[in-house]
Amino acid sequence: MSTRDEKIAHTMEYPPETPQPNVYPLSWHQKTGKLEEIWDASQREVWDPKKLPWDTFDPSSYTWEERESIAYWWTLLSVFDASAPPVFAEALIKTYEVHEEDAVRRCFFSVTRDEQNHEQMCGLSITKLLEHPDPLTYEPKTEIGKKLQRNAHWLYFNGGRYWTGYKKAVPKYPLSVLFSSFLMGEIAAATIFHQMAAGCTEPVFKEAFRNIGRDEGRHMAICMAVMERDYPKLETENKDIITKQIRAGYLFLSAVLFEPPTDFWDLPPDFIEVQRKGEEIARGAGFHIPEYEMKKENWKKAMLNMKGVLDRYGIPFPAIPEVGISGKEILDIEMDEIIPVF
Ligand SMILES: [Fe+2]
Ligand SMILES: [Fe+2]
Repeated sequence: MSTRDEKIAHTMEYPPETPQPNVYPLSWHQKTGKLEEIWDASQREVWDPKKLPWDTFDPSSYTWEERESIAYWWTLLSVFDASAPPVFAEALIKTYEVHEEDAVRRCFFSVTRDEQNHEQMCGLSITKLLEHPDPLTYEPKTEIGKKLQRNAHWLYFNGGRYWTGYKKAVPKYPLSVLFSSFLMGEIAAATIFHQMAAGCTEPVFKEAFRNIGRDEGRHMAICMAVMERDYPKLETENKDIITKQIRAGYLFLSAVLFEPPTDFWDLPPDFIEVQRKGEEIARGAGFHIPEYEMKKENWKKAMLNMKGVLDRYGIPFPAIPEVGISGKEILDIEMDEIIPVF
């Protein structure tokens, strides 16, 4: 091994092998044509949250209960979307370390950028609705606002336990395993945002949801393309990890897409009741959060899509009795051992 002081170039014609993983590939292989198409689409469809029609948005046309309830939903989304930029940045670094093909690296770069946009959108909405840039230090003006803020504190606390586990998981697992967890979030996200875009009456939210839904659809396509490439040669050991991570994904993402399962999320007893009340107020103000049955139906559909993908490659699907899907029983999942992202 050479150090800066110990020069070796005069002793040999070519340098020794560079130790791996080395973060820069110095190669631009092209294997998966589909990924090139998705990257091109991401360049064409890029959008800027600041340039949405904000001039048409007048928060004072809503009551404070409505403002606080809508801001609560954006806060709930932020628990997932504000962690997405660092989560995908970490995965982007991994694609360089393992010298992934060029288009995979670029696709991950695009996901990181998109997620940064989604996070920005959460921030802009919350700040305008509350006239304060931080939903946890904001002083609520109504009774429901106070209760929703306490909910937000608990969500934030729970989500905070996940980053350390994720950081440990990224070096440990191959990209094929990580992708199955990512796909889970993307399928679910694409569904909910399309619905919210269709149902929301406020133009700025409608347009944001349309853009976010389109981004998530691309993210889903990226995961699918890499899975199609890698799953035919997947080892059995990794198949088991994927089954477990899908169950973990269900538990984790249910908080935003359905309702948080209480044995996994550590939440106060009136959490769901308060959240349902807030959602009802937001819905009444034209902010289209799907109702319980609709959420359940969506989530089930997303799970069945995911099951369709895994079945194709002989990967056992976990039991999701909450939405009526039978499969392999998976118990004992902790917040600090999950990979899923939104
Ligand atoms: Fe997102
Ligand atoms: Fe995404």
